[in-house]
Amino acid sequence: MNDTNTAKKRGLYWWPTYLLILSIIMTALVAVMVVISIKYPVPYLAPDQVPMPDEGENIPGPEWIFLLFWQGFWYFGGSMKKYLVLMPVIPILTLVFFMFLPVMHKVPFDRIPGLKNLIEKARGLAGFKRSFTYALPSLIFALVILVGVYKSGHQAKVLGCDSCHNASMGARMGNAPANVAKYYATERAMQIGVGKYRAGKVNAEGGGGEGGQSEVQGYKDANWQMRHMYEPTFTW
Ligand code: HEC
Repeated sequence: MNDTNTAKKRGLYWWPTYLLILSIIMTALVAVMVVISIKYPVPYLAPDQVPMPDEGENIPGPEWIFLLFWQGFWYFGGSMKKYLVLMPVIPILTLVFFMFLPVMHKVPFDRIPGLKNLIEKARGLAGFKRSFTYALPSLIFALVILVGVYKSGHQAKVLGCDSCHNASMGARMGNAPANVAKYYATERAMQIGVGKYRAGKVNAEGGGGEGGQSEVQGYKDANWQMRHMYEPTFTW
């Protein structure tokens, strides 16, 4: 007898069993999001109430966005920039994986030589041990995502932007430049040309080896923007 039939015998159906369990879990998840958004509102009252520039560190936010879409900008800076083309690969693979998740159990994993033994062993187990063994791949996947999301997001100072970027700071900081197109083409382009990012340099010429700490880092590019978010008081 296959797994579906045993489940049905025990009274476990997609409706109502699984759908109800999933609804309860999703409701709890939405409740957590509501509580977090009430507890940690994004400061928007500056200049009347100015947040600290580092506010937001270790506070939950949409960290999965950083992980899935922005991490490439963090790691592929300087001479590594050429690898930026790889950035869409991980989100696309993740999407494809999720798309095929409902039919995953149809993949004949037991035809793979090494796995056949393992799967047969798991089939021999019973009760919690069996459920746990079956759930192990998903648990490991979830753990990897969780660690990645935490590592790529906990340091982001996402609630501190108003500390510097508010109306009292004037054009470019609080308000857009009077003529954005002109600002981008002239002033900002000039900043990028002469400004560069100096904190990581070894010497005034911007020397240092390829890929190392001492490499000249980008200025006002996507990598700079990531550093600006992680360390706004240090990179601007
Ligand atoms: C410690 C002060 C400070 C904090 C906090 C801060 N910034 Fe900035 N930011 C600056 C300064 C200074 C500039 C440079 C402005 C200029 O050159 O006109 C800047 C520039 C920028 C720019 C323009 C970059 C460009 O391409 O010209 C963006 C976008 C930006 N900040 C976004 C943010 C966001 C989002 C946050 C919060 C996560 C943030 N900033 C937090 C000081 C700060």
